[in-house]
Amino acid sequence: MDEASRVKIQVAQDPRNLTDLEQKHVPQILLADNFVRIKIGQISHPMEEEHYIVWVEFYADNELAGQRDFQPGDFPEAQFNKPDSGASKLKAVINCNLHGRWQNEISI
Ligand SMILES: [Fe+2]
Repeated sequence: MDEASRVKIQVAQDPRNLTDLEQKHVPQILLADNFVRIKIGQISHPMEEEHYIVWVEFYADNELAGQRDFQPGDFPEAQFNKPDSGASKLKAVINCNLHGRWQNEISI
């Protein structure tokens, strides 16, 4: 993978029919009463020394509302407080050390 595709943010091409790579990288945004859980991905991503999720960023509308760094061995999930800003869109961006950045968003 070249540098340009590593920095480019990838999204699911067809959210109803994810490829193997998309199933492991597209973040799932799960809403509860007071918090938001971000799961990477539909099939849990590996968290090994050579291949792991480095970080996740969480945005309310387009403002950064939370961030978490991961280490190999961590569980590829993060929980954030639900923003009380009246945001209409929640977005997650994740970074895999091998497969680059992936994004997903939901309307609330
Ligand atoms: Fe990966």
